[in-house]
Amino acid sequence: MSQHPLAKFLDAVPDFPKPGILFSDISPLLKDHFVATIDAMSELFSEQEWSEIDCLAGIESRGFIFASALAYKHNKGFIKVRKPGKLPNVAASIEYGLEYGSDKLEMQKGDGRKVVLFDDLIATGGSMGAAAQLCEKVGYDVIGMACLIDLASLNSFSYKDMTVRSVIQFED
Ligand code: PRP
Ligand code: MG
Repeated sequence: MSQHPLAKFLDAVPDFPKPGILFSDISPLLKDHFVATIDAMSELFSEQEWSEIDCLAGIESRGFIFASALAYKHNKGFIKVRKPGKLPNVAASIEYGLEYGSDKLEMQKGDGRKVVLFDDLIATGGSMGAAAQLCEKVGYDVIGMACLIDLASLNSFSYKDMTVRSVIQFED
């Protein structure tokens, strides 16, 4: 399978943050190719689809980078899906498993608007799945999910028949 040209700017770091984990560092990509990266993520959705999206939700912390830039590009609102203890007026929280460790996400009350969730990477799908459930729990309508990198070898993730759209896929 031919890989997206942006994939070559990722830095694969072995044994970070724990032994046995091959960490996909997006730092070089963000530093030298930020606009191209945001444009590539933008193209994951058609103009028709963008017109139907009300707000973009970013998963703390690396998801904030992409959701906020895309919200600006498409003149949409930005919603935070935060790690615990950071947000006032929390309406609901959810515990989830990570590729390494576990964590919890929190959100403020929603208002029925249509949101798309963004993150940098999907590994097991634990973060994206928990964030999607939490968005619905607080009262948003999740109509899509997207990320820059899908470690497809670690997941076969879908949520309510929606798959996560991604720019770069690693199958093994
Ligand atoms: C990382 C990554 C994704 C998640 C992917 O977040 O940014 O959010 O793990 O793993 P999963 O699909 O198995 O859930 P992490 O919370 O480690 O760090 P961050 O705060 O830098 O985003
Ligand atoms: Mg993250």
